[in-house]
Amino acid sequence: MCGIVGILGTHEVAPILVEALRRLEYRGYDSAGIATVNDGVLDRRRAVGKLVNLSDLLVHEPLAGKSGIGHTRWATHGAPSTVNAHPHQSGPVAVVHNGIIENFRELRAELAGYGLTPSSETDTETVAMLAQHYLSEGCSPIEAANRTLDRLHGAFALVFLFQGEGDLMVAARKGSPLAIGHGDGEMYVGSDAIALAPLTDRITYLDEGDRAVITRSSVEIRDAEGRLANRAMKQIHMDAARIDKAGYKHFMAKEIAEQPTVLADALRGYLEDDRISLPGEELDFTKVERLTLVACGTAFYACLTAKYWFEQLARMPVEVDVASEFRYREPPITPGTVALFVSQSGETADTLAALRYCRDKADKIVSVVNVAESSIARESDLALPIHAGVEVGVASTKAFTCQLNVLLLLALKAAVDRGHMTQEALSETLSALRALPGILNAAMARSDDIERVARQIAEARDVLFLGRGLMYPLALEGALKLKEISYIHAEAYASGELKHGPIALIDKTVPVVVLAPRDALFDKSVSNMQEVMARGGKVLLITDAAGAAEAGQDVWQTIVLPAVPSVLSPLLYAIPAQLLAYHTAIAKGTDVDQPRNLAKSVTVE
Ligand code: F6R
Repeated sequence: MCGIVGILGTHEVAPILVEALRRLEYRGYDSAGIATVNDGVLDRRRAVGKLVNLSDLLVHEPLAGKSGIGHTRWATHGAPSTVNAHPHQSGPVAVVHNGIIENFRELRAELAGYGLTPSSETDTETVAMLAQHYLSEGCSPIEAANRTLDRLHGAFALVFLFQGEGDLMVAARKGSPLAIGHGDGEMYVGSDAIALAPLTDRITYLDEGDRAVITRSSVEIRDAEGRLANRAMKQIHMDAARIDKAGYKHFMAKEIAEQPTVLADALRGYLEDDRISLPGEELDFTKVERLTLVACGTAFYACLTAKYWFEQLARMPVEVDVASEFRYREPPITPGTVALFVSQSGETADTLAALRYCRDKADKIVSVVNVAESSIARESDLALPIHAGVEVGVASTKAFTCQLNVLLLLALKAAVDRGHMTQEALSETLSALRALPGILNAAMARSDDIERVARQIAEARDVLFLGRGLMYPLALEGALKLKEISYIHAEAYASGELKHGPIALIDKTVPVVVLAPRDALFDKSVSNMQEVMARGGKVLLITDAAGAAEAGQDVWQTIVLPAVPSVLSPLLYAIPAQLLAYHTAIAKGTDVDQPRNLAKSVTVE
């Protein structure tokens, strides 16, 4: 999962390429580079580390040219280094690549026979070398690109640029998204429409298997069978907020703070008076016998939360799994199953593959996505938007609560459809949900208290999170957030599981974060908390006023949130979990928006 961009322009492209890469940094940020054709000559600049290093390099070693390609990398093959950075060039060919070339070792061995040896450890360089080989056999650049593409196994989005061809790019999509942008006398290609946002809002998405020959005045697209394909050009409405921190120090802080607003907006998209109305096609849950929920990471924890909701509210059997396990388990999908995929980016490779596994097996493919034009959305029978707006921080925050929101609405609809909830009870829950944005704002006001505790948590080497029922997935999410951005080792357990092993970890150096609103399970959570405190453990209790009053004296720290109906607690308790991770990371001085080793969109398996 890297970001790629290409421009056949009418002005100098280097600064425009760098600017487009800035908008793609969410896909990877361990090195970056650009290549241009200037007076027929192909040349490139690459730098390890964040994009700013490439910008600095370009100040000292500018790169002229009106056509070029660019790349921001998340390393798969070969460490982040200048030599492994893209574009990869082999003689007169440069390529940028997102994905993995699975057969690159065989290809390398073959190319060695022609006297071509790689200078990097990457799979991508093989692509440029192979194209160079075909050029040396007398192929035209387009033929060389096609013959190269025919040889590649794996998942990729690729763009080729050729020496002596200032008006040509060849692009291909197989398993990784690629968008073509139409300008006035200019043409663009990018990993997504956002990269191209300031350049154009006229976008053509390549379909799976498509190849495109692009010049300044034309695009010729052929499908996987080599037939000319007519792909629609769409007008895309871009969210300009993407690269604006709006005065916040970090995108993550902005996105945490945005949650009340985006949730209120999202609700408006799903409610008609006191009825839940899904955008697009209706989903009749009386016909659904089983729900299979699949996702990765934070989106998986949203699914795990939804399992409790669907089971408890709608009495519906639910299976939930991480996408990378689900697809290789090859689970039987029985008739009456709706398969539901949750993904912020809509491009996560494992989730997309799991969706494709279910394609001809499930009655219906539903997705809950943030990016409406994403592959997962486009390959679903019904794509439900979460309306979170663009999420830039690598650690997911507002997308999580907005996913929860849509999943809860679906569970409520299922409960009504299946006769397990009266209209009156629904109206009551919906009015509580409408009031939630205000309550989330009140929870944000705990930020200073959380910051104080976070300074102490920042000293810890390990942190445990505990939760029961709906708070168990939240505990998992809290631990994930903390490890992602503060690099503190954090684990989560269902509170009742602690005594079956993890309690051995407890001592006075291990803070234990207990998420426990005063609900039906509270007494049991208190017992588990006592077990921790009896062993010298320091408990940070996140609860409501009633919970705080009943928790006892020995709790190390308490964060008090407003009380909400139990069913809504995951949406509320996400806020302190996020703020705790955020403030801890700030105290530790880590890179909050772009934590090490991660990327926002994971388009490799
Ligand atoms: C964690 C995080 C990741 C993503 C996961 C799935 O903060 O952001 O765990 O949730 O990579 O990504 P999407 O939702 O884009 O499929």
